[in-house]
Amino acid sequence: MNYEYHDPVLLKESVDALVTNPDGTYVDVTFGGGGHSKYILSKLSPKGKLIAFDRDQDAQERIPNDSRITFVQHNFQYAKQFLEYSDNIPVDGILGDLGISSHQIDVDGRGFAHRLDGPLDMRMDVSAKLSAETVVNDYNETQLLNIFNNYGEIKNAYKLTKTILDQRKGRRIQTIELFKEAISSCTPKDTPAKYLSQVFQAIRIEVNGELRALEQLLIDSESLIKESGRLVMISYHSLEDRLVKNYLNSGNLEGKKHTDMYGWSSQPFEGKPNKAIIPTDEEISRNKRARSAKMRIGIRQAWK
Ligand SMILES: C[S@@+](CC[C@H](N)C(=O)[O-])C[C@H]1O[C@@H](n2cnc3c(N)ncnc32)[C@H](O)[C@@H]1O
Repeated sequence: MNYEYHDPVLLKESVDALVTNPDGTYVDVTFGGGGHSKYILSKLSPKGKLIAFDRDQDAQERIPNDSRITFVQHNFQYAKQFLEYSDNIPVDGILGDLGISSHQIDVDGRGFAHRLDGPLDMRMDVSAKLSAETVVNDYNETQLLNIFNNYGEIKNAYKLTKTILDQRKGRRIQTIELFKEAISSCTPKDTPAKYLSQVFQAIRIEVNGELRALEQLLIDSESLIKESGRLVMISYHSLEDRLVKNYLNSGNLEGKKHTDMYGWSSQPFEGKPNKAIIPTDEEISRNKRARSAKMRIGIRQAWK
């Protein structure tokens, strides 16, 4: 397969763990370039089904010509509603390969990469109202500070916020070059790329409501996946990975373990959630974007 759109990360590890029933129904909530989806399809019998979500309309160009796949151009935050409505619950497994695809980073005009000039956009779904331009130009001090503190773990979040408020006076900062120039006094001279990546990540998470979507999917997965079915999640930064780990460990996003009066745990998934699976050195040398990936697998316990 040609992986120009996106080279799938932990492909074999994730799909081999996910698919245990060739006749089953599987969900790929982050279709992207379809690498994982195609491999899932190769493991399914003619009776198997795959439902794939992606909010980005560009992903549609990658849908394989296969009657077993249904593509839904939607936010996976609402996967439960769609699966309910289409009478597909419970499913045999759900795969999430979070974040953005190489296509979204590399293509001009999407605004995800700080090394390419273009509009400050960063929307995965180009019909969505909120863009990075709105965040940078219209958010107030408290909102900006929250984003930079909570989504980017940026050390000089306060200075950065004040600088943006000051620099946008009397004009709108509409392009990536103008934004980089506006915040140049905050950008460390020795590690500018790392800093800009953190700032861009924070804004992107806000623009796309990424943590909100993940939280909802995790909470819903309990009622979506059948007994012994799998939840396989690949994440690329600690904010996402912490949510996945907490949820798999405890059944809640805070990671608080609860037991009933007999000492039985109420967590819906078992497995080894504390043990993240990471790409091999060989995969990382072939595909740099795999370097921060962490995968966790949950196995749905008997219905609780
Ligand atoms: C890392 S890529 C997935 C790559 C894919 N596994 C492959 O093999 O090509 C993540 C994809 O998920 C999509 N995405 C991220 N968050 C989403 C959400 N909340 N709802 C729907 N799609 C989402 C992005 O648009 C992007 O195309």
